[in-house]
Amino acid sequence: MTDSDQQTPVFKPLEGRSIVFGVSGGIAAYKAADLASRLTQQGALVDVILTEGAANMVSAITFAALTHRPVHERMFEIPADMRIGHIDLATRADLMLVAPATANTIAKLAHGISDNLLTATALATTAPLVIAPAMNVNMYRHPATQENIQQLRERGAHMAGPAEGRLATGISGPGRMEEPEVLVGHVRLVLGKAGDYAGRRVVVSAGGTREPLDPVRMLVNRSSGKMGYALAEAARDRGAEVTLVSAPAALPEPVGVRLVPVETALQMRDAVADACRDADLLTMAAAVADFRPVAPAGGKIKRAGKNALTVHLEQNPDIVAEISGERLIKVAFAAETGDAAEKARTKLAAKGVDLIVANDVSEPGSGFGTDTNRVAILSADGGEEQLPLMDKLAVAHRILDRALPLLSSR
Ligand code: PMT
Repeated sequence: MTDSDQQTPVFKPLEGRSIVFGVSGGIAAYKAADLASRLTQQGALVDVILTEGAANMVSAITFAALTHRPVHERMFEIPADMRIGHIDLATRADLMLVAPATANTIAKLAHGISDNLLTATALATTAPLVIAPAMNVNMYRHPATQENIQQLRERGAHMAGPAEGRLATGISGPGRMEEPEVLVGHVRLVLGKAGDYAGRRVVVSAGGTREPLDPVRMLVNRSSGKMGYALAEAARDRGAEVTLVSAPAALPEPVGVRLVPVETALQMRDAVADACRDADLLTMAAAVADFRPVAPAGGKIKRAGKNALTVHLEQNPDIVAEISGERLIKVAFAAETGDAAEKARTKLAAKGVDLIVANDVSEPGSGFGTDTNRVAILSADGGEEQLPLMDKLAVAHRILDRALPLLSSR
């Protein structure tokens, strides 16, 4: 058994990545400060460019304080090192983000107009461009804006939003800037495209299935979906095309992931089988009910005097054991209370999987509903890696690290 400490650094999608963050003058500029902060907290080096309009909405000091870096506003300022502002920013960018992107800035980007530092940098960079439109609904729907957006899309720009909802003028419709946490997802999606899972199709199951007893009651379990959603995000961050088959979970839908909502184990079986048809990797983090009521009642079950209620259950299919594919690598989890690794080894063989993640759900901070997990990863060739308590995203990356060489071998 190897006891893995933090020797191999856990992959962090934004760590050390250079993001040139153009902010144009929409009212959503106030949310850009939060976005700059989130990107910085996740390790990105964020260089903010403010247009004149944006500087009227939020001050440069706010962004400088949040990013710990100088903020750029003017095209023709001469820095002490004599480097040319927009070319220097354009060259260092791993990604350029424009949020909010007003109709005016979008028009300039579409037509190659470079009359301010933001648009000049966008013209000079070869880095991927992520644009988060934000404007009045009529400006957004105007054919000129729609054509500009289409043109940018065709040139490879990634459009993030806009979202629909209440706009600053009080009317509702498309035109709201996507929320900062969603935009972080878009940035991670675009930066991850050339990752080590690029070209791989990954299916993840998440959450606890629900088996109806009657129209108002069901058999459930304690899975929150956090482990599965972390796996989906981690695979997305490394360039995979991800399908997330999820039982109901109170979690935001991960950006750039195909979400297939299900309720019961039978629905999950069908959705997983469908998604696995052309997949490379299946990771079953879902807590699937082993049994379901044989005959769910059509109406609400009533008390009958003092009589006990007997419910007959039948077995659900074992999804992960059932599914096979020529090149499909299968990863199961084993939620156990005590002797997790030993019990997981038995399950690994019984279910015919390549890896199994032994999860002692009785340990503090580990298992159901927590943000952290403590697991051991066991492989069919006898290998076993015990991981320390880590956040679920880090656990997800360790699982993907283990699965990657198996994918390459098929
Ligand atoms: O969702 P969270 O709150 O973040 O919690 C995470 C988790 C504890 C749910 C997760 O880490 C975990 O351990 N998931 C597997 C839970 C489980 O059902 O374990 P099991 O030992 O009963 O099943 C073993 C494996 O077979 C699992 O991969 C399971 O998805 C799969 N299975 C089980 C039953 C079934 N009918 N079909 C299956 O495919």
